[in-house]
Amino acid sequence: MIPASPIETLILAPIRGVTDVVYRDAHARCFGGFDSAVAPFFQLRQGHPLRMGELKQVAAENNRALRTIPQVLTNHPPTFSAALRELSAAGHAEVNWNLGCPYPTAAGRGRGAGLLPDPTRIDSILAEVMNEVPVRLSVKMRLGYHDPDEFRAVMEVLNRYPLSGVIVHARTADQMGDGLVDVVRAGQALALCRHPFIYNGDIADVDGLFDLRRQLPQTAAWMIGRGALRNPFLPALIKGTPVPPPDVRREALLKFHGLLFDGYGQWLSGARHRMDKMGEQWDYLAHAFSDSQAVMSRIRRSHPGNYEAAVEWVFTQPLA
Ligand SMILES: Cc1cc2nc3c(=O)[nH]c(=O)nc-3n(C[C@H](O)[C@H](O)[C@H](O)COP(=O)(O)O)c2cc1C
Repeated sequence: MIPASPIETLILAPIRGVTDVVYRDAHARCFGGFDSAVAPFFQLRQGHPLRMGELKQVAAENNRALRTIPQVLTNHPPTFSAALRELSAAGHAEVNWNLGCPYPTAAGRGRGAGLLPDPTRIDSILAEVMNEVPVRLSVKMRLGYHDPDEFRAVMEVLNRYPLSGVIVHARTADQMGDGLVDVVRAGQALALCRHPFIYNGDIADVDGLFDLRRQLPQTAAWMIGRGALRNPFLPALIKGTPVPPPDVRREALLKFHGLLFDGYGQWLSGARHRMDKMGEQWDYLAHAFSDSQAVMSRIRRSHPGNYEAAVEWVFTQPLA
């Protein structure tokens, strides 16, 4: 194995419903390793300001443990500009534009990845928005919507604007989150891109990252989502922290779970809502245990009255 590099820049990916303010804070306090995070998208509504709850999710005072960049989903320049002004007024220096969301409610309506087949439209949106942009703007995109070569024309457009970075999830929107990532095309996107290039997609272990680094040596930073949700130690391991012994790992996971549970108790209203949120977290966190199926089924069978007993049982189980 190649020695880990402490200079690798790591960004926590936005995973809507999971990598929220509570998760980001808890992860940074228990495991560390990330340099920043991009928050899950705010779907901008024409003629409406951002919601208070959205601003709270990304406010610096609630994200002290991990610098967090808000992300917006829109194809409407005046709404886009208004949101950038609002986020700037709230103290944000950088905002990320989502050009990768594959869901029909977004992509099917020409937002997110739905813009990738139309570089002329991306150009006209950026021309309007970048005119007097009050913040640095970065973009998170996929290789394409249906066609994995759409990134070529899109990158040419992005190169014309002073963006702070381009994150490429090396899949098409049609692939959703499945199927192989296309590292060859990611390399071609990197070669075309004149902005700092951030690779994203299926970084699941330290060796996987080193393989990618060999193939994409000019990459400025790496964005990790599900790999870090399943193994929250991953970013610190990439930064060179040795694998902690099992009792230390168990302790960190237990503290992490406690921060999530308490945090959702404060941020959400009602036991049911909090349980649903913990269920979404366990979909990933169960993989930290060697029998993730047994962990998941025990958690799924629990209810607010016996959840804590279920968690106690889970933490007696062997770690992965
Ligand atoms: C449930 C789910 C929600 C996601 N939400 C967002 C989002 O809000 N914004 C975004 O740009 N990408 C979103 N993504 C995509 C991830 O940020 C990331 O690009 C993708 O999971 C690939 O990276 P990974 O293999 O490291 O997870 C989401 C992915 C999943 C699975």
